Amino acid sequence: MFTIITGAQFGDEGKGKLVDMLAQEYDIVVRFQGGDNAGHTVVAEGKTYKLHNVPSGVLFDARLLIGPGTVMNPKILLEEIEMLAENGVDVTPQKLGIDAKTSIIMPYHMALDTLREGKRTVKIGTTSRGIGFAYMDKVGRDEVQMADIADSGRFKKRMYEIVPQKKSAIKEMNGDPAIVTSGLDDYLEIGKRLKPYITDVSREVNLALNAGKKVLAEGAQGSHLDVIHGTQKFVTSSSTVAGSACAGLGVGPTKVDNVMGIIKAYITRVGEGPLPTELKNKDGEHLREKGMEFGTTTGRPRRCGWFDLPLAKKSINLNGYTTFALTKLDVLTGLSPLRICTGYELNGKTLDYPPELSDELAGCKPVYKEVPGWGEDITGTTGFGDMPGNAQKYVLLLEEMMGVTIEYVSVGPGRKQTFKK
Ligand code: GDP
Ligand code: IMO
Ligand code: MG
Repeated sequence: MFTIITGAQFGDEGKGKLVDMLAQEYDIVVRFQGGDNAGHTVVAEGKTYKLHNVPSGVLFDARLLIGPGTVMNPKILLEEIEMLAENGVDVTPQKLGIDAKTSIIMPYHMALDTLREGKRTVKIGTTSRGIGFAYMDKVGRDEVQMADIADSGRFKKRMYEIVPQKKSAIKEMNGDPAIVTSGLDDYLEIGKRLKPYITDVSREVNLALNAGKKVLAEGAQGSHLDVIHGTQKFVTSSSTVAGSACAGLGVGPTKVDNVMGIIKAYITRVGEGPLPTELKNKDGEHLREKGMEFGTTTGRPRRCGWFDLPLAKKSINLNGYTTFALTKLDVLTGLSPLRICTGYELNGKTLDYPPELSDELAGCKPVYKEVPGWGEDITGTTGFGDMPGNAQKYVLLLEEMMGVTIEYVSVGPGRKQTFKK
């Protein structure tokens, strides 16, 4: 069985929490795109794990894989492996496999990311992790791969070709070209340590599926941050929608069984770009404070707004969701009335689907449906029927409007705070 999980909004929907919860039922959990711009939080047995590269199934017995469609900062990966070891979780090569073709994020990618963002008149608000520049090098065929840092001969040959080009790119942006060659030996050292982890992810995943095993593909970021279908230019540099799992892992689309969308009961966004339902008032403050909406990777406050149905409809199309997990319902407790954006007004017209261009989306004024909220604490709820009537009605209304089953409801960060609807 092959299940793909993606974020249905702008990231941070709670993918880490759901993947951790589902991982015990899967043989393999695999990341297919993105890099350490992702920050996935797993809360288990009183401990909080913030994961950037390592798949969120790490606390269970599943085999973990990092696919060739990702970009990876090996220093950050090693820090994560060390953090997990300190917490008694041993990430051995038997546990984790990294594809030989995974693109390596080099110091010059991070330098170029920061320099470029500094020069943009309209900022994107990148995480400055070098993601965009690492993907540019993949597409431009100038990448450094995992296999290259694990072999000094390959690495030296690769750097011989790349160094002059990167030095001039950094000089052109008034940066210090010394960054291109500084610390290269560290990469070889890290490459030596990571060599035993190298594998062929497409082969492993296909062998597992053919043997009737269960594979869970864990997306990073969210559907509207997709580099092709998102709110350009305010997007990340990879394809974040479900189809990207097939391309990124080297698995045919005929193998996919389920596609689960993780969606918050409201909406958030980090960085710049349109967010039609953004709240810059006390309701927005409520969502940020109660939902602890601060970036896992950068610590930036997340922008918060009411649930946006047109954007949800678009992500349903982009991903072909078979099911949803609705997260952070508890954060809405104490707000009444609640508002659900059912459409937009743009240039005198009413729309029920997002316009294709970002600047048009930025001009959209939300049309709201108001529904009554609830005041009771729901963080200890263990079943749908135990929730206050208005909380049940809110979930059922979202489900009806989206036309896709909400299979799970999450009412807190902990493992036990999730139930099947
Ligand atoms: P991801 O990037 O999609 O994995 O999400 P993040 O981990 O970056 O952000 C989600 C945050 O919300 C984390 O701090 C989670 O622990 C937390 N969280 C997840 N589900 C819930 C929930 O149902 N209620 C509350 N209050 N917090 C949740
Ligand atoms: P997870 O996996 C939320 C946002 C950044 C910025 C834009 C581009 O935790 O959901 P980048 O560094 O990728 O070039 O930044 O994308 N962004 C995220 N926002 N969650 C994420 O990941 C994100 N990864 C990138 O804030 O606006
Ligand atoms: Mg996150």
